[in-house]
Amino acid sequence: MEKRQELYAGKAKSVYTTDAPDLLVLEFRDDTSAFDGKRKEALARKGMVNNVFNAFIMERLEDAGIPTHFEKRLSNTESLVKKMQMIPVECVVRNIAAGGLVKRLGVEEGATLTPSTFELFLKDDDRGDPMINESLAETFGWATPEQLARMKELTFKVNHVLKQLFAGGDLLLVDYKLEFGLYDGKVILGDEFSPDGCRLWDAHTREKLDKDRFRQGLGGVIEAYEEVGRRIGVTFPEV
Ligand code: ATP
Ligand code: TYD
Repeated sequence: MEKRQELYAGKAKSVYTTDAPDLLVLEFRDDTSAFDGKRKEALARKGMVNNVFNAFIMERLEDAGIPTHFEKRLSNTESLVKKMQMIPVECVVRNIAAGGLVKRLGVEEGATLTPSTFELFLKDDDRGDPMINESLAETFGWATPEQLARMKELTFKVNHVLKQLFAGGDLLLVDYKLEFGLYDGKVILGDEFSPDGCRLWDAHTREKLDKDRFRQGLGGVIEAYEEVGRRIGVTFPEV
């Protein structure tokens, strides 16, 4: 497999074509951004940590029967994935109130959400990723009702698998965002699952061990990502 030209450089990853028309290389960079790209910093080792973390999670999800774009890890910072037609709708599940929900609704941070909530956001940086719903997604052609139903089903399956996996490391999966796309006409999970796109708290102290450390300037961002990984059985290469 040969890496060819850069197709797209996002805020944290770069996407490359390969000699296989249906495969892409995702390169995880050290670049970190928050607040719609207004705050940016390169954090040493982040590309490697997120790539290795994501590969571990995608393999666990595949083992649990969740279809993903993940093929294999190619290097410390690169993974081979199926080329999907991305659906521009982000799916967010929350098990515990935090972040945007607390700001929007004024509920108490840390409250357990029963049942867990499901929200949709439009993937559109220029518009600040606004919250949308199924009706708007259908009307504006962002996703069909059938695709949305499958995305919701898979997002909750992921919750079932990952809540247990993180609980084994004494961690609470507070919330997370997933992206899906179409491959061979089917909805499959894409992009990444890493502490950049979810919230993880220590189950006892509720210490934040995710990207909120970057958003809130708490320091020790990558050390926290590595700690989370180690607790669930990820082995990071020496660099
Ligand atoms: P955001 O941070 O809001 O996700 P971004 O575009 O800046 O946006 P990056 O993670 O830096 O995000 O870039 C990776 C890009 O690759 C994203 O646009 C993502 O939707 C896209 N992508 C992920 N997996 C695939 C795939 N299998 N096929 C095609 N595109 C993909
Ligand atoms: P949310 O609390 O709505 O947003 P914020 O990042 O402003 O606090 O996010 C819920 C979870 O989903 C959180 O773990 C971050 C993740 N997420 C992303 O990574 N990217 C996104 O575009 C969105 C909407 C959420």
